[in-house]
Amino acid sequence: MEQIREVEEKALEAVRNAEDLAALQQVRVMYLGKKGSIQGLMSMMKSLPKEEKPAFGQAVNQCKQTVSDAIEARNAELQKEALAKQLEEEKIDITLAGDKLEVGTTHPLIMVQQQLEDLFIGMGYTVAEGPEVEQDYYNFELANIPKDHPARDMQDTFYIDPNTLLRTHTTAMQMRELEKAKGRTPIKLICPGKVYRRDDDDATHSHQFMQCEGLVVGEKITLADLKGTLTAMANRMFGEGRKVRFRPSFFPFTEPSVEVDVSCPFCNGKGCSVCKGSGWIEILGAGMVHPHVLEMNGFDSEKCSGFAFGVGLERVAMLKYGIDDIRNFYTNDLRFLKNFDRFD
Ligand code: DAH
Repeated sequence: MEQIREVEEKALEAVRNAEDLAALQQVRVMYLGKKGSIQGLMSMMKSLPKEEKPAFGQAVNQCKQTVSDAIEARNAELQKEALAKQLEEEKIDITLAGDKLEVGTTHPLIMVQQQLEDLFIGMGYTVAEGPEVEQDYYNFELANIPKDHPARDMQDTFYIDPNTLLRTHTTAMQMRELEKAKGRTPIKLICPGKVYRRDDDDATHSHQFMQCEGLVVGEKITLADLKGTLTAMANRMFGEGRKVRFRPSFFPFTEPSVEVDVSCPFCNGKGCSVCKGSGWIEILGAGMVHPHVLEMNGFDSEKCSGFAFGVGLERVAMLKYGIDDIRNFYTNDLRFLKNFDRFD
């Protein structure tokens, strides 16, 4: 009996001293395991006189129960402690300032391009593309621009070789599309893209800029169709209620040619500093596709006609967003670019 008490006392002390779950498990094996101390007490029973066996057995069982209960209680305690420790270690401070994700904004020129594409796709146009390194043939020859025309001058055009150049206008794409159609109508497309000229860069000139060409060829296409189309464009780009006005002009690839003004969106045509008091702002060149251009590309100019226009995207963006220096589009100053996340 004395021995039982001793074993129990030692066991309970070991349980109290177990500092973690692994140590407690060792204690469990040491006292309650098959080769443990309590089992050792049990095997002592054989050598006892018969009449002492029941009381001894009862006492050992009692000891086993006491130790087992103590281990369970300590186990629960240690588990609670372990969880508390883990929670403490893994705590996330949700009040800490987070990392700000920098999100880019659409470039204003791309915004203008997309607005034009949306508008014209909505009116049944397709969007065509073409090379920026272009042949003289498409940039000048098919566009009816004669050999001695000043635009062909080395001073105005970047040449790669005598027949290859950086396209000076998206009209080159118009010519490619006309050639591709092989005289078939209708054609209804726009071609947005970059163009290049040998200009000295300043607030209003850039050696590289963007244009969007428009081209419609079919039966009975008239200047009135051009005017309606450009009015729709002016309304989309500069707000409802815009009017357009045609002034006679000259381009080798159109006849008649016009320069197109839009009623000033800033003063509604009354006259202000932006429109220099005239109430009108020039935005693009346009005209009826020259019969010779149609014929050169295999169209019967007696049976079909077409209109074309070419609009500068920088000019539209500058007017629309009040930008006063064209160089802003290319210098990639984030303070400038970030302004455009709030515009349509
Ligand atoms: N290509 C002309 C330019 O760069 C713009 C232009 C004028 C395009 C009249 C056209 C047009 O298609 O019909 O200045």
